[in-house]
Amino acid sequence: MADIGLIGLGTMGAALALNIAEKGFPIAVYNRTTSVTRDFVAGAGELAEQLTACETLEELIGAIAKPRSIILMVPAGGPVDAMIEQIRPLLDEDDLIIDAGNANYHDTVRRAKAAEQAGVPFLGIGVSGGEEGARHGPSIMGGGEKAGWDRVEPILNAIAAKFGDTPCATWMGPDGAGHFVKTVHNGIEYADMQMIAEVYGIMRDGMGMDSKAIGSTFAEWNRGPLSSYLIEISATVANTADSHSGEPLLDVILDSAGQKGTGRWTAIEALHLAAPATVIEAAVAARNLSSRVDARKAGQDLFGSAAQPLEDSTLNLKDLEMALLAGKIACYAQGFGILTAASEERSWPLPLPEVAKVWREGCIIRSAMLDDMAAALADHPGGNLMYAPDFAKRLTDTHGFLRKVVAAAALEGHPTPALMAALSYFDTMRTSRGTANMIQGQRDFFGRHGFDRLDGLDIRHGPWAD
Ligand code: 6PG
Repeated sequence: MADIGLIGLGTMGAALALNIAEKGFPIAVYNRTTSVTRDFVAGAGELAEQLTACETLEELIGAIAKPRSIILMVPAGGPVDAMIEQIRPLLDEDDLIIDAGNANYHDTVRRAKAAEQAGVPFLGIGVSGGEEGARHGPSIMGGGEKAGWDRVEPILNAIAAKFGDTPCATWMGPDGAGHFVKTVHNGIEYADMQMIAEVYGIMRDGMGMDSKAIGSTFAEWNRGPLSSYLIEISATVANTADSHSGEPLLDVILDSAGQKGTGRWTAIEALHLAAPATVIEAAVAARNLSSRVDARKAGQDLFGSAAQPLEDSTLNLKDLEMALLAGKIACYAQGFGILTAASEERSWPLPLPEVAKVWREGCIIRSAMLDDMAAALADHPGGNLMYAPDFAKRLTDTHGFLRKVVAAAALEGHPTPALMAALSYFDTMRTSRGTANMIQGQRDFFGRHGFDRLDGLDIRHGPWAD
């Protein structure tokens, strides 16, 4: 009998199934299109003996040891509901369904509630790391009934990425907690990628560097404090030649970014929670604007190209590296801020240090810095990451570079919306006397909304004429 079942042998499902099989857990697999299942098992090599290929759902269910656990790896949204509806009646009451796709956490909350009302177990788990991660060690963010998690934890620990000996697989809390953490991961992923793209733009258009030189720079940065998967792959992407034209691949890729929506979900949730995520919002907006290729061309025809070459002495590569570091810290402070706000709003005690730990390996945003973030978050529960001594020191050392880069970019027309958002956030969060007194005055003027005073007196309105 199989220890577990998996439905949906797309890229991620197939990779996850092979990972599970490789770790010694017999697994039953099913795909709606039978030929996909057959081809998958035929291509599994010696792992095939751990796989049971099933051509019907009934066959799948019959092949799994009781109480059953079944992973769904079908496209997020309607297909998940449709599959749950199809298999639930075929299952026993204590059989566990695990949605491991990139679900909107609101859907997971709804599905978890329905499962609870029906008295059946359900988990929603976020799986990060792309195909490679799914095959050899993803980062896993679990949510749902703790008892369900405990049941499959040995398998998830075995297949997850490891930081040292520690598996990057953690139960984050009830119902949608795991998918919520995965959503915030993706928002940070968007922002990290955008800030890297912004410094790439300055190197390309401002400093006249070719892709090879840019690739070498990223490779160099990957040996320093920015060391991370995204910097590493940026080096590889920049260093790769197009097999068709022989040109640097980067130079032939259309500058229009796709998105499936998870970054946008993060921004939406941040707004709902009143937890500013301006760096992530900037990254989402930048992706949207990137797809308006014709409009951007029309703008350039009308106003002339924005990005001008920089004087040789304006910026150096160290400035860019340190600016990216500062931007990244501000961005993560916002990301963890969303998680803190969600913990309060939804009564999910999201374990922030554990979130940072689970992101240390396997996932797309894995980086050297996350281990230090885990320690900082443990020492300063509920606080802003920027104020934790270790990160306050790093920001003190680097924010001048961020300012220098953003200022040079602004003067010479290089769009850097995410880096700018990071700088504005940092500056706002170190300004004790801000400017909202003006807004309060305006609000009171037109709507008698009232204000608090610095002197504490109970005079809440201005002497405006009626
Ligand atoms: C991961 C990634 C992944 C994501 C896609 C791209 O953690 O492995 O975040 O889950 O869905 O890589 O997402 P976009 O199409 O929105 O860029």
